[in-house]
Amino acid sequence: MKYKRHTVTAALPYANGPVHIGHLAGCYLPADIYVRYLRSSGEDVKFICGSDEHGVPITIKAKKEGITPQQVVDKYHKIMGDAFKEFGISFDIYSRTSSKTHHETASGFFKTLYDKGVFEEEITEQYFDEKANQFLADRYIIGTCPKCGNENAYGDQCENCGSTLNATDLINPRSTLSGEKPILKSTRNWFLPLDKMQPEIEAYIDSHKDWKTNVFGQCKSWLNAGLQPRAMTRDLDWGVKVPVGGAEGKVLYVWFDAPIGYISATKELFQNPTSNIQHPKSSDWELYWKDKETKLVHFIGKDNIVFHCIIFPAMLMAEGSYIVPENVPANEFLNLEGDKISTSRNWAVWLHEYLLEFKDKQDVLRYTLCANAPETKDNDFTWKDFQAKNNNELVAILGNFVNRTLVLTHKYYEGNVPVAEEYNKADILLLEEMSKYPAKIAASIENYRFREALAELMNLARMGNKYLAENEPWILIKTDPKRVQTIMNISLQICANLTIVMEPFLPFTSKKLATMLNLNEGLKWKDATRTDLLLAGHKINTASLLFEKVEDEQMVYQVTKLSNSKMENEASKSKELSQNSEEEKPKVAEGKPEITFNEFAKMDIRVGTILEAERVPKTDKLLKLKIDTGIDIRTVVSGIAQYYKPEDIIGQQVSILVNLAPRMLKNIESRGMILCSENEKGELSFVSPVKPGTNNGSIIK
Ligand code: MF3
Ligand code: ZN
Repeated sequence: MKYKRHTVTAALPYANGPVHIGHLAGCYLPADIYVRYLRSSGEDVKFICGSDEHGVPITIKAKKEGITPQQVVDKYHKIMGDAFKEFGISFDIYSRTSSKTHHETASGFFKTLYDKGVFEEEITEQYFDEKANQFLADRYIIGTCPKCGNENAYGDQCENCGSTLNATDLINPRSTLSGEKPILKSTRNWFLPLDKMQPEIEAYIDSHKDWKTNVFGQCKSWLNAGLQPRAMTRDLDWGVKVPVGGAEGKVLYVWFDAPIGYISATKELFQNPTSNIQHPKSSDWELYWKDKETKLVHFIGKDNIVFHCIIFPAMLMAEGSYIVPENVPANEFLNLEGDKISTSRNWAVWLHEYLLEFKDKQDVLRYTLCANAPETKDNDFTWKDFQAKNNNELVAILGNFVNRTLVLTHKYYEGNVPVAEEYNKADILLLEEMSKYPAKIAASIENYRFREALAELMNLARMGNKYLAENEPWILIKTDPKRVQTIMNISLQICANLTIVMEPFLPFTSKKLATMLNLNEGLKWKDATRTDLLLAGHKINTASLLFEKVEDEQMVYQVTKLSNSKMENEASKSKELSQNSEEEKPKVAEGKPEITFNEFAKMDIRVGTILEAERVPKTDKLLKLKIDTGIDIRTVVSGIAQYYKPEDIIGQQVSILVNLAPRMLKNIESRGMILCSENEKGELSFVSPVKPGTNNGSIIK
């Protein structure tokens, strides 16, 4: 179906920290590429984002920094907005959920559902922290996930298995405010009866088998488990007030208000139109949310899937006058140097810091992140790969082709585009090939396959490079200058086409190249097949390099910086722990029931050495190890991949329980178990013999 217009959103980031590469790769960059492509194709599109300024993540941050929630959001809203702008994320509006329009819109939306009788009002028992004297919703409470056993699942979501939870589902709940075991206290809340809406939602999801498999699969598993009513209000004081009687001291659930933020921001866009909207009416926002011929697409990270695919659509359906998302292309997560990106552990590449060290190299990061985007599985960002992509692809292929073309044009023709004489067979084939690229790239983008699209873009540059290398104009110039004119004219046309198709991915470079070519402004996607973008006689500007090599020293600097931050982290963590222990003992798991010596003696635990280690494909956690147990050499699958790199542990001695019954893990027979200690964060480390070189097979008792 052909749509009349597009509403494209990127998840509203919590305004509780600066932006890092994981944010960019996960959602903002793909959304930006998509939108820039649509604009270039002449589509009517609004690109909407803003800061998510409510919810417990904000109040927790405020408490940590000793400032008010408002101060937190003011600070980070600015930092985040600036970072997006600097990286060319071309939102039509970057708003915030503390805005007046948003409070009115979210509260009005709630009131509409309330008046329609959609909500079920219920008094339920919720966790309450007596020490802090407040209810514990969402991230104020952690406990063991009933689905996967992760001991640090939040009250509303388990980040380990992605399940959405209710605080009362948690096993062994504890308050993140005081660490206390909470009590239960009755309170009134308003629930969205997702259980009753299941058939409608199921039909909606089933009509979208075209969604990415990770997205569709997660929705189905939710539906198969049976939807549960979900509270849309919270006993908290930071957020949008619940606009009905008897709801004092309550606010809207952040996942109720935040997605409505997309709507509020669209309203604001039309209230304060920027220059790119001509003759708007302030009511025009409705076209982007209520007209069936509008395609609504949400770009998000995988932890947001159920909220965008189930809860928000359910809210929109219940309201009745809105369209629902047509697609929700969610990405998986990006790791950094093999480790989960974490704001609190300062394990991240921050956008503002990147720019201090790689001035004006936004496109290099955009390129690397897109080429490595976690589209279908979690992916890893490494500085080594960053350097390789820059040096071997941007510099050696795209940069090299453009530079050779422009330098030769200046050298042979004083910067004037030469007349193309006669095309030979190879030229005709080449131009035919060239004209196919825009459609290929477009198809990939329209299917949310940005890595593939980018690879095609590079193929076009590669094709140009090859053309020059095969035709060797620098040699022919002595014998056949006419032929060289044609070769250079064709090469210049390819450069001109490249500016158009690279724009969504590399907007800064596209602009730079367009300026060097002295190209007309306002060229559109459909122009990218033309062979007359640069007419004979047209004068190009001086050439400068599009990309520069990234040197080894720069990489060493980055890697050192990261490992320093890891060390500082560990130092401050152990300091914190030792401080804690003076005031209160660190929390330890409760003791297990008594066993006899005989029961203990049944366990055969030995010293072994890791001979080989590799990741188990398609898992984040598992390593496949080959262990010399002294008795034999065997395979063990161990859930330590988040804590150890395979190459680092080869040769290490560990303790292994050798007489555990074999188990199949991911189709691998695992024989035995490596003993690990688990710290309060759930991180594992080997229990290794203290004396190095203890014989394999030595008994541990
Ligand atoms: N703030 C949420 C997060 O960072 C995303 C909110 S998306 C919206 O995970 F739909 F609620 F806006
Ligand atoms: Zn879980």
